[in-house]
Amino acid sequence: MNYRRCEKFLSRISPPLYVIPGNHDDPAWLGRFFLPPGLPLPADPSPGFSYYFDRGEDRFIFLDVQKAGRREGYINETQLRFVEQLIESFTGRCTIVVHNPPIPLGCDWMDKTMLIENGFELHKILSYHRTRLRCVLFGHVHQFLQVVRDGVLYVGGPSLCAQFSLYPGAPDGSFDGSLPAGFNVLRYFKGGISVLQVPIMEGVSQTKE
Ligand SMILES: [Fe+2]
Repeated sequence: MNYRRCEKFLSRISPPLYVIPGNHDDPAWLGRFFLPPGLPLPADPSPGFSYYFDRGEDRFIFLDVQKAGRREGYINETQLRFVEQLIESFTGRCTIVVHNPPIPLGCDWMDKTMLIENGFELHKILSYHRTRLRCVLFGHVHQFLQVVRDGVLYVGGPSLCAQFSLYPGAPDGSFDGSLPAGFNVLRYFKGGISVLQVPIMEGVSQTKE
């Protein structure tokens, strides 16, 4: 099983691992292998995989926005209230983690099929509380990306495989073989945050996600 192999491989990394499901995941299986025990969960079980934890002056909020069998995501009402309460009840700064981007990125095919389809509702809450946020982390776009929208920093992560084309007018699901695989390293410091984009290997081409 892939999750079992993945767990075995990742267990060599010593820091704790916190995950959220994406569109290719089975949340139940992912949770069985990776969801850390003892994390605070919302009272309503409908947001399944959503959870949070605190580290000093920082709160990290993970939201499962997966829409089964679809590329786009969805955030339900319970999750929206969950985020709002978690931000308002914490005096430090919050980092939000989701799989799909909550805001349009200006690339037609991505904006049509890859966003949290009602992400504007999340963005409305986040922009209202912008001074209490560090950033919003997302994947799914297979690209290094940083966007500030209405005072909220959105940070996109690349894939460890092929990277999507993200220019306006790019063909649906097209890949850019010139872009490297990689990952982001986030540095938290008093009053701010920096994002180090780390490329790890040559770009590869694919024809489909
Ligand atoms: Fe994805």
